[in-house]
Amino acid sequence: MFKSWIRRFRAKTLALLTLAIAICFTAVACSGGGGGTATATGPMIAPELVADYIHTTLAADRTAYTRHVVNRTKTLEGKPNEEGVLGIESTEGWQQTDGIPLPAQMFRLGSEIASESGDFTYSLVSSWNINDNQAPKGEFETAAVVEMEETGESVKGYQEVGGQAYYSAIYPDLAVAEACVTCHNTHPIHLERYPDKVFEMGDVMGGVVINIPVDSMPADA
Ligand code: HEC
Repeated sequence: MFKSWIRRFRAKTLALLTLAIAICFTAVACSGGGGGTATATGPMIAPELVADYIHTTLAADRTAYTRHVVNRTKTLEGKPNEEGVLGIESTEGWQQTDGIPLPAQMFRLGSEIASESGDFTYSLVSSWNINDNQAPKGEFETAAVVEMEETGESVKGYQEVGGQAYYSAIYPDLAVAEACVTCHNTHPIHLERYPDKVFEMGDVMGGVVINIPVDSMPADA
């Protein structure tokens, strides 16, 4: 009687143990899937990947606007726009002159709307900034901009600003169109501040910074 009770107890414990191990394995397997931890709705995406996706979209829109809108105000279907084929100019004072925004202004207009979501922020930054608001800010940006401009590679890491932890990444902003280079090289503020800096096609002109709020700083940051 006592022996059979023990046997039953053992069988039950074994079953429970097997179940517990199975649950553990499933949890570990799921969390490995997306490079992050599992949630009730599925695997999470690593912040690095999220930043990469956001950047790809931003860079594509920025290049498309410069190549296919701004460039066309100067050259339309191969014809120089001397007689004002489009009768429009991409200019800093676009609101006063019935023009269209500069690529940097277009980028900021989008960033202001996107920031209303409260999910993440992005902005332009450069060591050769024309707009004072686009000078590198804080420890992370200041060091990351220099590294990015030197290597031509993105720089990623964590930073804490005002008690909030962020995953931050900075990606090179390249001179992808002739208009980028000519406009910056001849801008009065650029000429005054950085007379020796002459941009060429393909150069790193600055960077796109993306800040994604995260729950906490990683232990090793
Ligand atoms: C027609 C002129 C013009 C063109 C074309 C232009 N920019 Fe700019 N860019 C400016 C001005 C002016 C600013 C600063 C004004 C602002 O952001 O409000 C600026 C800002 C920037 C900034 C932020 C740092 C700063 O200088 O304040 C970067 C980086 C930049 N431009 C890179 C580029 C790239 C890359 C292209 C081509 C894809 C480009 N620009 C095309 C005039 C131009």
